[in-house]
Amino acid sequence: MLGRFGWKAGMPTIRSQSAAAFAGDIGISTPLVNLPHGDCTERQSECLAMPTGEQARLGVSEAPDPVLDLVTFYSQTLGVPLRRDVGDAAVLRGKAAFYGAGCASCHNPKFVTSRDATNPALRFQLIWPYADFLLHDMGPGLADHRPEGQADGYEWRTPPLWGIGLTQTVSGHTFFLHDGRARSLTEAILWHGGEAQAARDAFANMDAATRKDMIAFPESL
Ligand code: HEC
Repeated sequence: MLGRFGWKAGMPTIRSQSAAAFAGDIGISTPLVNLPHGDCTERQSECLAMPTGEQARLGVSEAPDPVLDLVTFYSQTLGVPLRRDVGDAAVLRGKAAFYGAGCASCHNPKFVTSRDATNPALRFQLIWPYADFLLHDMGPGLADHRPEGQADGYEWRTPPLWGIGLTQTVSGHTFFLHDGRARSLTEAILWHGGEAQAARDAFANMDAATRKDMIAFPESL
């Protein structure tokens, strides 16, 4: 199955992404990733000697299937925030510039979801994620030289831009990109390289007013 989730598209489903995060991020085992000590390695004996949350009444995992089911369902059906200022002149100019610069070739605006989705609420829906969810070589500036699965050290998955304009409101910061190095949307765009070099250069070569409009557009998503 094609990977869709994670910075390098390493996980095929929200369920597997959630199970990997349960174990790797907070050390809770699930039936999919049954590691109660999370990412402790064989050599970390003290780490492996720490108590776990395993209990006979829960079965073999700390978070058995009903928990993983609920968390998966929550993430699958979490609403996307409504767009703001959709008809604003600056936003519309920015939208035209976004398409003109070639951003939409990776930040693909819309899809219709599969008619076969398990959850009927997710079937045949028009969605606007502004991402192709595919891997791209983003150049040496963004490379972490750490391959994951079939993704190499230069490749990153195009992240969705829906909701990005509310990052400050929701998360209390405006740090972007895989390691949070960009302090603003402008910095995030200027870090683009590799396959995105031409789009990045188009942005850098715009006059200041158009660059400002270009930021107003993702701010409205
Ligand atoms: C070749 C594909 C490609 C093109 C073209 C492209 N992007 Fe991206 N974009 C990406 C990838 C991949 C990332 C994630 C990079 C990372 O995290 O290191 C990204 C990240 C971003 C982010 C940060 C998202 C976040 O949540 O941190 C913004 C904002 C963004 N792009 C806007 C743009 C704009 C505006 C343009 C046009 C000037 C553009 N992109 C062109 C692939 C592309």
